[in-house]
Amino acid sequence: MKMGLNALLDIELTVPNPSELESFWNRRGLVTTAPGQLGTAERASQLRLREGDYRHVSQMRVACDNESDLLEIANRLEALGLTCTRGDAWLDAVDPIQRHSVRIEVATAAPLAPRSPRQMNGPGELVRVNRRSEAAMKEAMPTPRRVGHVVFGSTDVARTVDFYTAGLGFKVSDVIPDVGATFLRCSSDHHNILVLPSPVPCMNHYAIEMNDFDAIGLRGVEVVEERPDASVYGIGRHVVGSNIFWYLLDPAGGMFEFFADMDQITDDSLWENEVRRDDWDPFTVATYESGTSKMDFFLPTDIEDIARGRERAGL
Ligand SMILES: [Fe+2]
Repeated sequence: MKMGLNALLDIELTVPNPSELESFWNRRGLVTTAPGQLGTAERASQLRLREGDYRHVSQMRVACDNESDLLEIANRLEALGLTCTRGDAWLDAVDPIQRHSVRIEVATAAPLAPRSPRQMNGPGELVRVNRRSEAAMKEAMPTPRRVGHVVFGSTDVARTVDFYTAGLGFKVSDVIPDVGATFLRCSSDHHNILVLPSPVPCMNHYAIEMNDFDAIGLRGVEVVEERPDASVYGIGRHVVGSNIFWYLLDPAGGMFEFFADMDQITDDSLWENEVRRDDWDPFTVATYESGTSKMDFFLPTDIEDIARGRERAGL
């Protein structure tokens, strides 16, 4: 019997103006599937929006295979001195640093239809002939596929990582000691959570998977057309996780990433937890990028607002 975590189901974002963020995502192709809930026809709940006086992740939902996983998680949390609440086929725990709720439930993520194959020409490879590219013609605007990961800035990376790994059962895919970054997964994705050091607990970004480079470009440009200063970093390709990325700002001031082509780990024994590339500086997050980036990538510019918001909330 398969056991353990199997998917990141959704995240809940609390922001001062959720209806503004909702219509932003509606314009990008995410559908309102219930009040305050955005998703797709395949996965109805991916982003949930709530109103609050500062922006933060307030909950994440993660799927596990069996009831026995919940029991094991509860026992492991207890061993770490942490409490949880258990219900029928679910368990609620609290991230000890961020202080958001993590709900683990016995569930599976609905399967995603593979993208339809595209004809791409290459040198000596005449595949799409006598016909213009569907991306150039904007034949159909690509839609977001799923929420893939979320990145947290933590004031105690070791404790955060301990909660997700020793407590909840996430696996470590990569660690970059020089940066203090740890990439964690609860599925085959290279990362569903990344933990980075930060002077204030905060969300660094949330990430939406798109079909390919063109889907990222077409939707990313829409964001920049609405708000010329929205581009933060990209387009480029990461070293760790290998994903193609474009980081942009949403109207709540939160950074999000459109990504595609991330590393997938299906056999732990075959994954090498070390980047073997002699020329690589661990602070270089991209193998290549467009060079137009703003480097407020590591720390949100509204970090003071978040710090004050947390103080008001008694965190
Ligand atoms: Fe990311």
